Amino acid sequence: MTGMSKTIQLNNGNEIPIIGLGTWQSSKEELKTALRAAIDVGYRHIDTAYNYMNEDTIGEVLQEYINSGKVKREELFIVTKLPMIHMDPNLVKRSIEISLKKLQLSYVDLYLIHGPIPLEYDGNDNNIFPLTEDGGWKIAEKSDLLGTWKAMEKLVDFGLTKSVGVSNFSISQIERICKMAEHKPVTNQVECHIYFSQKELFNACKKLGVTLTAYSPIGSPGRPKNLKEADEPVALEDPIIQRIATKYGKTHAQILLRNLIQRGIIVIPKSVTPERIRSNFQVFDFSLSEEEMGDIDHITIQKRYFDMSTKFKDHPERPW
Ligand SMILES: NC(=O)c1ccc[n+]([C@@H]2O[C@H](COP(=O)([O-])OP(=O)(O)OC[C@H]3O[C@@H](n4cnc5c(N)ncnc54)[C@H](OP(=O)(O)O)[C@@H]3O)[C@@H](O)[C@H]2O)c1
Repeated sequence: MTGMSKTIQLNNGNEIPIIGLGTWQSSKEELKTALRAAIDVGYRHIDTAYNYMNEDTIGEVLQEYINSGKVKREELFIVTKLPMIHMDPNLVKRSIEISLKKLQLSYVDLYLIHGPIPLEYDGNDNNIFPLTEDGGWKIAEKSDLLGTWKAMEKLVDFGLTKSVGVSNFSISQIERICKMAEHKPVTNQVECHIYFSQKELFNACKKLGVTLTAYSPIGSPGRPKNLKEADEPVALEDPIIQRIATKYGKTHAQILLRNLIQRGIIVIPKSVTPERIRSNFQVFDFSLSEEEMGDIDHITIQKRYFDMSTKFKDHPERPW
């Protein structure tokens, strides 16, 4: 198991590196440093989104590496996401074209629908989270998840992305899409860590041939204060993780990541700190025993760090 594969095969035959670099909330200069450190140490999978407003910075660094010959385009696995304001099927192609232009690429490797609920598009491409007067999200009047999916599939046919997938989708949403899909979603990117193990979703996706990608795999300690609660459990400080980390002489983050990849889950830890970026990637030289995997599996704390349920109110496509 120690020498486990660093990639996972997707249901269309493409391979995805099991560890990618998360880039949410990275400022321009720190992101450049982060990307250089990541590619230098061996990351090939980069996770971004239209909504992160950083695709242009990623594009600059990718060009630098591709032009210098340090890395070939086909060795990279670049993931970006359709914003919820562009979920109208007529807006999907234009949206990926905006992303590709910023990324300075002719195709991405994976394009995800960022979330299942369309937000109102007011003609302003920068207004990614349009608000109602009471501060809620302005949800689009029409929701046509299967129509959006059909538009996503066309992007594969146009050669604008190699694979398509979803993010923050429920079991029933994935099932509905798989039933009609010509190009099945290859992954569902969702919150997943020791306090939110997503067993049911993981098993349901597995049956459908859909992989799970874990966002916030180390518990998103840096997310904005308004998304945090006082006294919430902190995955990086869990005593079981601490005990296992001490045994192997590894960092807590390395144990959190190893646990997920050993379950067969793709991880996209974010860091802008070169030393952490390097150590987060060093998880292939040891393995957790069955007993240790079981100890983590039996952790009873349940904590969803991203609870958007109030934003989605009682929308029929609310995923949780
Ligand atoms: N699809 C979605 O809706 C969605 C939602 C959330 C996130 N994501 C994606 O998933 C990625 C990861 O999620 P995330 O950013 O929420 O959380 P995360 O990767 O679990 O945690 C990132 C935080 O942990 C810190 N960190 C990283 N490595 C560490 C280490 N070895 N030791 C201690 N602290 C460490 C980082 O600090 P420094 O950067 O200061 O080093 C940062 O504050 C995002 O960047 C984004 O690409 C997707």
